Amino acid sequence: MTTTQQQGRLYLVGVGPGDPELMTCKAVRVLEDAPVWITPKARKNGNSSALQIAAAQVGLEGREVLELRFAMKKIRLGEQADPEVSRLWQEAADAVLVRLDRGQDVAFPTLGDPALYSTAFYLLATLQERRPGIRATIVPGITAMAACSARVGQPLGLGDDVVTIVPAAFDDERLRQILATFDAVVLMKVHRRMARIVALLDELGLTDTAVLIERCGLDDQRIYTDVRQAVGQELHYFSTMLVRKKSLEGLL
Ligand SMILES: C[S@@+](CC[C@H](N)C(=O)[O-])C[C@H]1O[C@@H](n2cnc3c(N)ncnc32)[C@H](O)[C@@H]1O
Repeated sequence: MTTTQQQGRLYLVGVGPGDPELMTCKAVRVLEDAPVWITPKARKNGNSSALQIAAAQVGLEGREVLELRFAMKKIRLGEQADPEVSRLWQEAADAVLVRLDRGQDVAFPTLGDPALYSTAFYLLATLQERRPGIRATIVPGITAMAACSARVGQPLGLGDDVVTIVPAAFDDERLRQILATFDAVVLMKVHRRMARIVALLDELGLTDTAVLIERCGLDDQRIYTDVRQAVGQELHYFSTMLVRKKSLEGLL
């Protein structure tokens, strides 16, 4: 970077949960303006869902799309990340810094909202560690849970409800405590955990308070009002369960 050239800005852009109409005007505008997009690719030949969602609204022509590999491994805050995970964050940071130093803005489209379980934040933290003055903007997006709640016509939280959001790779004991304690629970990443989750819900007498939404707002969307029917099914990664114990009965 020359002394007169300003460093580019990094944008973490929430693109919503899949329905292209659920991308905000700001997300569309920022993605349109960014000459470089960076997007995670889970496996060597994997496709990024966020890229597909973004590309349905904003053309790719004339821009560089950097599909970088991020290791989709379990991350536990407070513990050192797996070395492969850290190495890929550093490599992604290298690629982004080259573009920012040329003065190019770089946008990272991410599923739903960047603040909820998005890889984009690990990249941001890696970049901030290497370049403390980095310029970054976060563009919020519509979360999957908001879309799921709207789709099934039930609120996430009302009145004195305490709502908890759980990435369902939790161990059973922690999940049991959460389900037993809170008024409403949003369970994300449930696609491979349905048998255990339904067993816990049954044990706590909560199965009838749960609804599962698969591929909300997309082709092949499915809603399971009886979540037992989802056990044994090959569910898509885009599956979210809403558990809500209280209703408005008796209130009005
Ligand atoms: C890594 S998290 C990303 C969450 C996202 N940042 C958000 O704000 O909703 C991925 C999880 O989001 C949920 N999800 C994303 N899109 C969805 C959709 N269209 N329908 C249902 N669940 C979805 C699923 O629980 C999935 O396992």
